[in-house]
Amino acid sequence: MRKRYTSIAISLHWLIAILLIGLIAIGKYMNELEETDHLRFELIQWHKSFGILVLLLVLIRIAWRLTHRPPRLSAAMPLWERFAASATHVFLYLLVLVVPLSGWIMVSASPLNLATELFGAIPWPHLPIATANGFTESDRKTVSELSWTVHHFLANGLLILVLLHIGAALRHQFILKDNLLSRMWIGTEHRRHMDLSHALLPGLLLAAAMALFLWEKAAPDVNDAALSASEPSAVTVVDAVNFTATQMGEPLRGTFDTVEIELVIDNEAPARSSLQATVHTGSINTGDGQIDSTVVTADWFASDQYPLAEFRSTVVAPVAGTNEFSVTGDLTIRDTSRPVTFTLSITDGVASGEFPISRSDYGVGTGGQDEFIEEEVTIRFATALK
Ligand code: HEM
Ligand code: HEM
Repeated sequence: MRKRYTSIAISLHWLIAILLIGLIAIGKYMNELEETDHLRFELIQWHKSFGILVLLLVLIRIAWRLTHRPPRLSAAMPLWERFAASATHVFLYLLVLVVPLSGWIMVSASPLNLATELFGAIPWPHLPIATANGFTESDRKTVSELSWTVHHFLANGLLILVLLHIGAALRHQFILKDNLLSRMWIGTEHRRHMDLSHALLPGLLLAAAMALFLWEKAAPDVNDAALSASEPSAVTVVDAVNFTATQMGEPLRGTFDTVEIELVIDNEAPARSSLQATVHTGSINTGDGQIDSTVVTADWFASDQYPLAEFRSTVVAPVAGTNEFSVTGDLTIRDTSRPVTFTLSITDGVASGEFPISRSDYGVGTGGQDEFIEEEVTIRFATALK
């Protein structure tokens, strides 16, 4: 009968533990930052990437746990303590699953509908909440808010449970002195007792994680620089344009996959602030191939003839005392321009806005299509501040 966890279980335990502590620390820290802070946006992207990594590692860990029995606890341990240990472990497993899952649901249901890319490189799908049948915009908002609450409370619950768990491990190590920790410590099977050298690897890893976090924390506030610089700064970190139309009484949502947005906020010379967006109409994506191939035809966007729809601002005026700007400009679709005014707001380092348009103003779908797609369409967009 083995006396220690397998080296796979031990490696996963410590890797997940370090990542979790980092995730909770970064989660708390980014939540304290101003909505308009670009660092907040950057940290959220890192947080999502590491959070999904933890979710995947936890799934592997649970599969390993179910196929490899842990070493038996000492018969001398009182029943209540075994029960408390098992219960804590079950809840720890449950929470390290539900917390990242609720985060994933939160970003999938977010009205901003920003794409998630793990570590800036691997596209990660959203759960199909955005496109689920019968889900209205307000349902999505409710799901997004609810999953935020779950994420926030359970992450705090996880933190408390982890502290209890660490407390129990330290009690065994320093009060009961039964060397229970060696069952989960890095080292070889025959080295039963811990010495300082065992602490080297986890210590180094923890120090590296902390250093990374502190380095992030000390990084200059890019957004402050952008907002106060007289040189305007343009951005294309994440650009998303999506829309909601009404198709035969049901919401029809979609995105334009190829868009470029350039936002310049110049606090020194507000008149130099501007917002420009270019949308490739042929890149429309509603998740329904039939609709996508219909709306690019002559009666709708006529994408062959008018491949681009464009927005050019004429005024971007800050709204005093808020994170908002009032934007006025011209929207051009099918070579027809109309004035549009809307509010641009900044949340989590992302600037976003929405406004309704009447599609027939632009000659889109004029061949008696009103019963198919209703006249009013809501356009929504988002872009990251730099
Ligand atoms: C930070 C997040 C942590 C999480 C989520 C976590 C989770 C867990 C879980 C779920 C188990 C049960 C393993 C199983 O039987 O399947 C476990 C075991 C264990 N953990 Fe942690 N742990 C964390 C941190 C720590 C820390 C910092 C220590 C030490 C100070 C520690 C010490 C131990 C020990 C000694 C065991 C083995 C208990 C036994 O022999 O039955 N853990 N941990
Ligand atoms: C086990 C993994 C995770 C842990 C421990 C964790 C923990 C946290 C914590 C502590 C916060 C701050 C909230 C508060 O103050 O209580 C937070 C916020 C957040 N988390 Fe996670 N998280 C994890 C995984 C994820 C995943 C996988 C995603 C998305 C894919 C995610 C998305 C977010 C977002 C977007 C916020 C900020 C919400 C806002 O704007 O206020 N998290 N997380």
